[in-house]
Amino acid sequence: MADLDGNKVEKNFQVDIPFSMDNNFYVKGAGHLEWGMKKHLSNIFCPKSGNTVMFAFDHGYFMGSVSGLERLDLLIPKLIPHVDVLMATRGALRTCVKPDFRKGIALRVSSGSSIIFDDLSHEVVSVDIEDAIRMNADCLAVQTFIGADGQVSSIKNLSKVINAGNRYSIPTLGVVAVGKNLERTDQYFKLATRILAELGANIIKTYFCDKFEEIVAACPVPIVVAGGKKLPEQDALKMAYNSIQGGAKGLDMGRNIFQSKNPVEMADAIGKIVHEKFTDKEAFEYYKEKAESRK
Ligand code: R5P
Repeated sequence: MADLDGNKVEKNFQVDIPFSMDNNFYVKGAGHLEWGMKKHLSNIFCPKSGNTVMFAFDHGYFMGSVSGLERLDLLIPKLIPHVDVLMATRGALRTCVKPDFRKGIALRVSSGSSIIFDDLSHEVVSVDIEDAIRMNADCLAVQTFIGADGQVSSIKNLSKVINAGNRYSIPTLGVVAVGKNLERTDQYFKLATRILAELGANIIKTYFCDKFEEIVAACPVPIVVAGGKKLPEQDALKMAYNSIQGGAKGLDMGRNIFQSKNPVEMADAIGKIVHEKFTDKEAFEYYKEKAESRK
């Protein structure tokens, strides 16, 4: 292991130079993967824009019936036409989503936390690879806690899922979870995203922060940005726009869609930024107009 003393602070990210290995496939870092992996990745990332709108509604796995997701059976079918990927638990998918939908699936495969337990950082792999295959999952989502009490077990979980996914050509989505007492700095996210990518995750979900373009430049696989707590729609769209401008390949948003007064219009507005190069201002105008015309 390298000596930890006297490490230089990294700064040469060369953010203006595109990733150099994308010449035979449009998804970052996937050029040398085999056909099945690429097929799943193309179910996630739109071949035309290269980007994705993931709709995350897996919160129930540790938060129960969170506000806005009380009735998955009523909400999710309305949103499916407006997003590219559903990020969910197998329980939510099997009970509340008809199997004939034609979008991607990011299947939550780690669990073990709950909001009434103080430390959320200890999880297990809770879905077998065979069940993920049965559900036709396009990627396997694992929560990973770098710098938290559960770091070793979550890296073990991530590695187990990557190894199983590689056997059957199913990509892994490494989710950066920020443990309590940790700050959301670019230094932290550079560390966490790079560790997950080097362990073999094919997509990384993390948060937007300052110097985001450096995090993207140093990460050899696509980054999708988590929405986080509910913001006013205008602010959430600004965050989405800044993420895409900073090099994110999509948003993986939950509360900022399902806790909006107008979830469908919000999902559409995010899609305009992600796929059609709308600015945040244009997307907010679009959101307001669509919400108004539905009244
Ligand atoms: C949390 O652990 C889950 O991965 C959620 O899917 C994630 O936090 C995204 O949801 P939100 O945009 O509400 O933060």
